[in-house]
Amino acid sequence: MVKNKLPCLMHKVLLFLAIFLPFISSHLSAQERRPGDLFPPDKIFLLEEPRDWQDTEEIMERLYLKTGDIVADIGAGSGYFTIPLASRVGEKGLVFAEDIQIQMINYISKKVETLDLKNVRVIFGKTEDPSLLDNFFNLVFLANTYHELEKPSLLLENIRKDLRYYGRLAIIDWDPAKKSPFGPPTEEKIPEDTAIKEIERAGFELIENHNIMPYHYFLVFKKKNN
Ligand SMILES: C[S@@+](CC[C@H](N)C(=O)[O-])C[C@H]1O[C@@H](n2cnc3c(N)ncnc32)[C@H](O)[C@@H]1O
Repeated sequence: MVKNKLPCLMHKVLLFLAIFLPFISSHLSAQERRPGDLFPPDKIFLLEEPRDWQDTEEIMERLYLKTGDIVADIGAGSGYFTIPLASRVGEKGLVFAEDIQIQMINYISKKVETLDLKNVRVIFGKTEDPSLLDNFFNLVFLANTYHELEKPSLLLENIRKDLRYYGRLAIIDWDPAKKSPFGPPTEEKIPEDTAIKEIERAGFELIENHNIMPYHYFLVFKKKNN
């Protein structure tokens, strides 16, 4: 009897795996990703070097920021983009510069103090949660950070909560389809279509795709409101 039941049980298990494994694995890959290495804080000086391959003014233009806007710069690093963002939103606006490495936080804090920037707040966040305010931001900006996210779907869920109804999410990241002489190893870069799928799955809709950089994609999403 037992001998007869075994193949039948095996058959059921195999059938279950065949049906559900693709869903389970795609769900896991959306939830968790092997962490790429975090940018090493002892190389922070590299983040301060001028980037002719990432035109800051052109990027700022394409973010269509207005005076008084509230922006989150997630994975702010040395604050390379925090300063031009702060200048775009003006004294009536605010930029929250957030990172999960304390050395980055200390570095930006000093910079903000030295430049006496009254419209920047520095936030020490968590991998899956930038610890910001709900329904508060006009724009959330991530540059050169998406490929480092350990838990993209959880972080995106929180970003979605933090954005206002008409809020936008801008992602600039290394494109593995564009060969670059520097930057993270190709296997750590996230393909553009993977990033778009993950972000859309988290409740966003792609509204702009600016193909203006030699090594990066630059995507803008709006929050999908149900
Ligand atoms: C390569 S640096 C980019 C810094 C800056 N955005 C720039 O373009 O110069 C990536 C930064 O993202 C931060 N980071 C990685 N994962 C993060 C997460 N889940 N939340 C916030 N920051 C994160 C790292 O600590 C690092 O400072």
